[in-house]
Amino acid sequence: MMKTNKIKMYFDCDTGVDDAMALGYLISEAEKVEILGIGSVCGNIDAPSGAHNTLNLLHLAGIDSIPVAVGEIDYLNKKYLCDVQHIHGENGIGNVQLSASPSALSQESAPEMLVRLARENPGSLSILATGPLTNIARAIELEPHLPEMISTLTIMGGAANAPGNRTPVAEANIACDPEAADIVFKNMNNIVMVPLDVTMRHTFEESDKQKLLNADSKFAQKIGQMLELYSGFYINVYGREACALHDPVAAVLAVEGLDACFVPKVSVVIDKTTGPGRGQTICDLRGQYKGYPQQENANCYVVLSTEMNMSEHLMRRLLSV
Ligand code: BDR
Ligand code: CA
Repeated sequence: MMKTNKIKMYFDCDTGVDDAMALGYLISEAEKVEILGIGSVCGNIDAPSGAHNTLNLLHLAGIDSIPVAVGEIDYLNKKYLCDVQHIHGENGIGNVQLSASPSALSQESAPEMLVRLARENPGSLSILATGPLTNIARAIELEPHLPEMISTLTIMGGAANAPGNRTPVAEANIACDPEAADIVFKNMNNIVMVPLDVTMRHTFEESDKQKLLNADSKFAQKIGQMLELYSGFYINVYGREACALHDPVAAVLAVEGLDACFVPKVSVVIDKTTGPGRGQTICDLRGQYKGYPQQENANCYVVLSTEMNMSEHLMRRLLSV
């Protein structure tokens, strides 16, 4: 019998158009990754709606067996208020309607689910987080040994040399809850950060949207429909109708690994002051002139670039769902 070495994954997300793409990608890689549970967090949409979006997307892909838990409805120090309807729509998924899943949401909260899965799979649980880090911070509060219990934490978030997208220096997932990000970055030393430096460089173009809209796969068609609004927003950013593949790039790297990446391990701290730097991921990249020698306080692999053709890879996978 073939030995399976599947990645056991907990996926934390704020579903979200690009979170939906990441989910589709993960589903398409069922031979490589087993999703043990999914938690929603407030971000692109409120946490309960994000959880329903996730359940409904799973149902669209014919999957009703993966538990989905609602996570934190507010940030650690701030009430949640949705302000990205112009990017992700009123319902988080570009105003696209999905049939309701017959499955119920999990009884446990997302942080409880994460802690349980980490205890059940000591040393082998991978976390992929594509929203604010509020659930992960709460899970660390619940189980202070969580950092030693997991295998890797891959996050879509932050900006190293690239400008921010929420403020001149802060990326949205970190900017939403810098206090949570601070807890995560202070407590973990094996984080893989997939920042705007890399995610902004991989896009779906207008022609990719058409491919999705005309796909046989119902899932791919719905993603294509979501891109009508999402790519429209990006005209302000790129000057053309093309969207950044933020969350799916992080998902691909969580599954494929970092061999095709330029990814120094450095110290990253979060700015949680109330000044203009709030939400910045301050990456110590001073070693760049010496080939990034080892740093004593390095806690984070910062992906600065990848040779993978993400849009081609992602398109292939989404068309297969
Ligand atoms: C991140 O913010 C959210 O809007 C996206 O889903 C992505 O996770 C990009 O900054
Ligand atoms: Ca997201």
